[in-house]
Amino acid sequence: MRISVIGCGYLGAVHAACMAKLGHDVIGIDVDERKIAELSSANAPFYEPGLDALLKDVQETGRLVFTTDLAASAGSDVHFICVGTPQKKGENGADLTYVDAAVRGLVPYLAPGQVIVGKSTVPVGTAARLADLVTEHESEAHLVWNPEFLREGHAVSDTLQPDRFVYGVSDGSEDHPSIAVLDEVYAASLAAGTPRLVTDLPTAELVKTAANSFLATKISFINAMAELCEAAGADVTRLADAIGMDDRIGRKFLNAGIGFGGGCLPKDIRAFMARAGELGADQALTFLREVDAINMRRRTRVVELTRELCGDGLLGKRITVLGAAFKPESDDVRDSPALSIAAQLQLQGSVVTVTDPKALSNAARRFPELHYVTDLDTAVQSADVILLLTEWQQYRELDPHQLRQSVSTPRILDGRNVLDPEKWRAAGWQYRGLGRP
Ligand code: UDX
Repeated sequence: MRISVIGCGYLGAVHAACMAKLGHDVIGIDVDERKIAELSSANAPFYEPGLDALLKDVQETGRLVFTTDLAASAGSDVHFICVGTPQKKGENGADLTYVDAAVRGLVPYLAPGQVIVGKSTVPVGTAARLADLVTEHESEAHLVWNPEFLREGHAVSDTLQPDRFVYGVSDGSEDHPSIAVLDEVYAASLAAGTPRLVTDLPTAELVKTAANSFLATKISFINAMAELCEAAGADVTRLADAIGMDDRIGRKFLNAGIGFGGGCLPKDIRAFMARAGELGADQALTFLREVDAINMRRRTRVVELTRELCGDGLLGKRITVLGAAFKPESDDVRDSPALSIAAQLQLQGSVVTVTDPKALSNAARRFPELHYVTDLDTAVQSADVILLLTEWQQYRELDPHQLRQSVSTPRILDGRNVLDPEKWRAAGWQYRGLGRP
């Protein structure tokens, strides 16, 4: 099929490459010339495992090209909308400027039978509004919503082998003409057994926000338990292991620590609350305010624990932060709890050094006042405290005996509860986890 992908950020770049991998002829479109130039030379503008290799692989087939010209979408059977929906400045709601502009921009190039497929995360009601806009222009194209659930760090496999496809169509019916088109797009994944659900438009939009809200709630639940464990002298990691063995609960997303961040969960739960308010259903989501508050409290808690670990205050203490990305296998620092903690410690008078295998240049753009060191051995030299805040594999595997030779005082705060406390204490370290005795 001929496919255009509008918006080549995280979602769109991966989606475009994966659609070409599935055998389609794909044109990726974005207004950002730098991004398009990088993608055209098979370089992902962000770190995502496997993406550079995939881009190179599919570009050699000639099935994937990139451009800044929206007119190049003319003639495509399917147009995927993959632009961002960031949090509005100074408000909780989602900024739909880019989604609206993409659909409006596309309208003049549409032809009968073509399908616009929304993938961006949008407030419920957006798809119906955009469908009306397409109809008003009498383009005889259809607009459907097909939310994307990819995780950063696993974006390629999540796109090629998702857990499920959700097709939101205007009448919610299996007979909608767009369904056959989407089935053709995803033929390979469907043949491999990926289930698909057909819903109406608002349900499809809600599936995405509900899923992210559930995940955020699960993380904040275990972080609330961590607060309780700290007060009661219990161990939240063992608690999570034990409750996670109940099939109905499950162990995934029960890792207590410094909380969630990134470009999705924080902004999505806020936009969801804002939208519920507009719909007069705000009471249904007041719990998400608590989820958000528990999450933000983790960051303050780490600052307080670091102060306790230092003994005599934060002023002038040399603190090394391991990890700047919001999670491992990513260079994304959007709403990164690690960086937010690093910045708070710096503001309170500590001398903070941050290291990360991939995210330092993004971090330096976001928080230029922090000190960044690429080399791990250099970063930990003479540290008074080490904070492990993003659980990259190389930090999980650190040797406490070896590391002790470099630091000034062997104190470590394990913000992700990934180290073995006994091993570190036996090596002479003062170890603190979160929600652990
Ligand atoms: C998320 C959703 O998982 C994905 O389905 C959606 O499409 C986009 O948003 P992502 O932002 O890539 O994906 O990250 P995710 O793996 O969900 O992690 C989010 C945050 O939660 C990270 O900061 C992570 O460190 C944190 N987290 C995750 C925890 O603190 N504890 C956990 O147990 C799991």
